[in-house]
Amino acid sequence: MTKSSSFVPFHVAIIMDGNGRWAEKRHLPRTEGHKEGVRVVRNITKASAVFGVRFLTLFAFSTENWRRGEREVNFLFNLFVESVDSYIPELKEQSVRLNFIGDMSGLPAFLRKSLQLAENETKKGEKMLLNIALNYGSRREILDAVRLICESKKEVNEENFSSFLYTTGIPDPDLIIRTSGEMRLSNFLLYQSAYSELFFTETLWPDFTEEEYLSILKKFGERNRKFGGI
Ligand code: FPP
Repeated sequence: MTKSSSFVPFHVAIIMDGNGRWAEKRHLPRTEGHKEGVRVVRNITKASAVFGVRFLTLFAFSTENWRRGEREVNFLFNLFVESVDSYIPELKEQSVRLNFIGDMSGLPAFLRKSLQLAENETKKGEKMLLNIALNYGSRREILDAVRLICESKKEVNEENFSSFLYTTGIPDPDLIIRTSGEMRLSNFLLYQSAYSELFFTETLWPDFTEEEYLSILKKFGERNRKFGGI
């Protein structure tokens, strides 16, 4: 893994998709795909920090994922607690700060407690901010921001509005990657993605490697970002 700065986006966001299909293809329970997914989260986080990415946002659980059935949802919540707890020393060593975005009030108390602890334990990390979107839905985020800005009586402009989003203080993503061949944003960072470059890969999330990630970063560097100009 080599570090290069010429093509490195400041903020990468990833829709990690395909855990279930990865497991089904191997006649394994879907939960095995999620466990593999955690391993890839660790690899890609480490690679991001090494490559010089400053913000990495991962979509782990959407406001729509509650439809998956109680067993899978419970499994995921327990997996989040287990993986976040055991991940803290590694994040500290890599100087990565953990931050969670989404509607935390809708999550069970045992999970919220573990997330708060992890945020607190890693708060000194300066190399990269790892944002994990949990119980996140962009439409809800936007509607909440509308309500808050109205209550605040502040002028409605882009700067003020952004400060009421969950991502306040975090620059918009330069690059959004989605794995597993689906080509949509699925209620992820709809406001923040106005000028993001989008990359879709057929690879299922548990099969996503640092090599493929690096090749996407290189392609990103070759794109001509115009932000509406010419
Ligand atoms: C999408 O695959 C994946 C998820 C909904 C869960 C993603 C969560 C992780 C990878 C773990 C996150 C790790 C930490 C440390 C918080 P899918 O189940 O929708 O796959 P499918 O579309 O093939 O069914």
